[in-house]
Amino acid sequence: MCGIVGYIGGEQAAPVLLHGLKRLEYRGYDSAGVAVYNGKAVQVVKSKGRLAVLEGILREEELPGTVGIGHTRWATHGAPSDVNSHPQVSDGGLFAVVHNGIIENYLDIKNHLKRRGVEFVSDTDTEVVAQMLEHYYQGDVLEAIRQVILRVEGSYALGIICASCPEKVYAVRKDSPLIVGLGEGENFIASDVTAILSRTRRVCRLKDGEIAVLEQGRVSFFGPDLEPLEKPAEQVEWDVAAAEKGGYEHFMMKEICEQPEALGKTISPRLREGRVVLDDISLTREEIENFSRVYIVACGTSYHVGAVAKYAFEKLLRLPIEVDVASEFRYRDPVLDERSLVIIISQSGETADTLAALREAKRQGARTLAIVNVVGSTIAAEADDVLYTWAGPEIAVASTKAYSTQLAVIYLIALYMAQETGRLPGEELAGYLKALEALPAQAERCLREKETIQYFASQYFNAHDMYFIGRNVDYAASLEASLKLKEISYIHSEAYTAGELKHGPISLIEEGTLVIAICTCGRLFDKMMSNIREVKARGAVVLGITTEELREKLAQETDCQFCVPATADFMLPSMSILPLQLFAYYAAGMKGCDIDKPRNLAKSVTVE
Ligand code: G6P
Repeated sequence: MCGIVGYIGGEQAAPVLLHGLKRLEYRGYDSAGVAVYNGKAVQVVKSKGRLAVLEGILREEELPGTVGIGHTRWATHGAPSDVNSHPQVSDGGLFAVVHNGIIENYLDIKNHLKRRGVEFVSDTDTEVVAQMLEHYYQGDVLEAIRQVILRVEGSYALGIICASCPEKVYAVRKDSPLIVGLGEGENFIASDVTAILSRTRRVCRLKDGEIAVLEQGRVSFFGPDLEPLEKPAEQVEWDVAAAEKGGYEHFMMKEICEQPEALGKTISPRLREGRVVLDDISLTREEIENFSRVYIVACGTSYHVGAVAKYAFEKLLRLPIEVDVASEFRYRDPVLDERSLVIIISQSGETADTLAALREAKRQGARTLAIVNVVGSTIAAEADDVLYTWAGPEIAVASTKAYSTQLAVIYLIALYMAQETGRLPGEELAGYLKALEALPAQAERCLREKETIQYFASQYFNAHDMYFIGRNVDYAASLEASLKLKEISYIHSEAYTAGELKHGPISLIEEGTLVIAICTCGRLFDKMMSNIREVKARGAVVLGITTEELREKLAQETDCQFCVPATADFMLPSMSILPLQLFAYYAAGMKGCDIDKPRNLAKSVTVE
């Protein structure tokens, strides 16, 4: 949801800003721009279109100067256009601003300023911030920022430069991510660390309402009332290479292939001497025993992890589980108390609805546990406990390795809670732990079969509609498989519980319609076979995803099969999703879609 960067140092700012923006393009890519102080004034170059368009313009146009800010946009207010691109500049040219978030009361402010003679040129909410800064500026930029944040409502990460204070970059945030990178004789701001990893690993994370003032040789921090703050720096462990494509054509394929390794890193440190060890969380046995209900709340792919979690938790803990999308949960007035455990799942740790759901859960006194990939993100910082997925940076908009590692953490939590409360006989627990330990190698084996899936995609990438069906965890995996296909190939697809088909959706099946049936659950295999027969009888072509032991039986009813390794029932989605991630990837590639940057989407959704 928009990426922002800022630089102050000894080098020319524009190339450094462009380099950072390339790493942030996954956040939004409908327009881009940079503003640099050129020694006399703030000069802006911005354009509708991908970053490559801006890069082309900057090859022709000089943009000298060592202080600047940059932006890559995912439009919220105003269509993608040159004038709506950021940076937005104030009427008198004094302030340039880049923004990620939404200023909710921008219309009131805009009308108020217009009545005072301020002229607006764009449809953006961000321009309001630039205009207000100039309006309130009386020689002290920090004071002008304070005046602005007193008046704006909504979410923002802002990067600001001012022509009358040109040796500084200012930054402030609320409910949108922003970090400060501390270099040698140079400093940075960025929406996330990948933008600055090649320059520094020392970062400070701004909290809501905090302001940073960057100079070439130092950074000062202030609270909302401009009281000076000390902020310790932290060292980022992520490898620079992890945020590069490393020879793959797309980040998505790289990330699909990284799943075995990521699973290993997430699982193995937490299995010791036949037990699940979760050193990182503080839940006691008494607390676990006291929970009366578990809520799992997330968005997008992370929500689909919750759909699998429901089966794992119900099976292992016999506790009532509710799974909800965060945008619904936050406004539906959920019934929570201190006996509720709310598990929040988020790759980025910054998704606006998920963060709001976490805050609502805390407000109602529930115990909160977050599963997050980005270390130090807002959700990680605010939850009572956090368990990290060690997937490394996920750059492709369509999530793959985050999904797999989030699933692994869900299995770990469910098994841990069962272990601590003595719910599982030792032998059964040992069996599950063995299955968990085997997942990385099994994923590796499964991903070796790429060509089979590639061939299958080549037969169906022109389809207009597809249906995914399954029961139990196979249905949960169908949800994610269908989302993956939609996100990147733009093929319309639906996921249905196989038993529900006959209540309506079966009317959509015609001669030649592709149905992908996930049938890995042995217990429900015969039920699935009946549902497959029902769609076949209406002309569907069926691809079955199953395990080796069920293949022969499935072959009698389906047109084609793909086998995944068998594992514990509730862990099966960790296997069945792999060929279907590949299927979406190949179908999208064959259709000529932009796999890593699908239309209208963004990786980190920091607006409602
Ligand atoms: C966006 C991304 C999805 C992601 C969802 C939730 O829609 O495109 O891939 O699953 O946000 O993001 P989170 O970072 O909270 O897991």
